[in-house]
Amino acid sequence: MKSLGHTIIVHGRNGSKLDNLAKELQVEAVKADFSDLREVSEMADTILKKYDKIDVLINNAGVFKTSNTTTKDGYDVRYMVNTFAPYLLTTKLLPILRKGRVINLSSAAQASVDFEALNGKVELSDFEAYAQSKLAITMWSRHLTNQVGADGPVIIAVNPGSLLGTKMVKQGFNTNGNDINIGVDIIKSLSLDHEHADHSGEYYDNDNQKYAPPQADGLDDEKAKKIVESIQTIINNTLAS
Ligand SMILES: NC(=O)c1ccc[n+]([C@@H]2O[C@H](COP(=O)([O-])OP(=O)(O)OC[C@H]3O[C@@H](n4cnc5c(N)ncnc54)[C@H](OP(=O)(O)O)[C@@H]3O)[C@@H](O)[C@H]2O)c1
Repeated sequence: MKSLGHTIIVHGRNGSKLDNLAKELQVEAVKADFSDLREVSEMADTILKKYDKIDVLINNAGVFKTSNTTTKDGYDVRYMVNTFAPYLLTTKLLPILRKGRVINLSSAAQASVDFEALNGKVELSDFEAYAQSKLAITMWSRHLTNQVGADGPVIIAVNPGSLLGTKMVKQGFNTNGNDINIGVDIIKSLSLDHEHADHSGEYYDNDNQKYAPPQADGLDDEKAKKIVESIQTIINNTLAS
């Protein structure tokens, strides 16, 4: 996107990896571990201090398998990184996103949210935690779209394509996976192309290259409201502690 003349800010959690990337691309970098909402909040503040407008926010960071599945605040790391952190970042940046776009990385793996698990009260398998966290981000995307209305950003949840050959897929599924450019191309298109401007709140399934209904709960407005209220409570409690 830099070659198209856009100003890019990259995010990462690993200082040296991030510095190398920022140097290579000659772009600005911001650092935050998304398993800690305090760091997410500070990162948003850093961006808010420096920029008065963001055209596109891509919520890409995500985790599937990891050795430590519980965060220091007692939540499943999949829910924290894949669902709560991007919600906090997006809502804090809303004032400068205005009519921009938010692209939220969902997945073909989607499962009904168990509120006990979302609140860190029961443990789930890696796949179940990941699939619940991905339906939850898909659901808050639609809920937030309805909240911000026409003056807010376009918010789209996307399955970039299944089993693309990234670190997550190589380590988690023991396969080399498919061409990652399948994901790159759709994220770029959703970020910039006019044809997506009227699809806020929807889920784009790149396995079938079209907008599609998410898993059945994904259109349940009451459940989405409950999920967002739970996320907001977790954010408030964590940032106050
Ligand atoms: N690959 C697929 O087939 C596929 C399919 C559907 C959806 N997705 C989604 O696409 C997104 C990108 O995943 P990927 O496939 O490219 O996997 P990946 O190569 O493992 O990338 C995940 C990224 O998230 C970052 N991350 C993980 N935990 C973090 C934390 N606590 N704080 C900050 N950053 C963190 C990782 O940083 P480090 O480099 O420091 O670990 C990495 O840059 C994810 O949301 C994933 O769920 C992927």
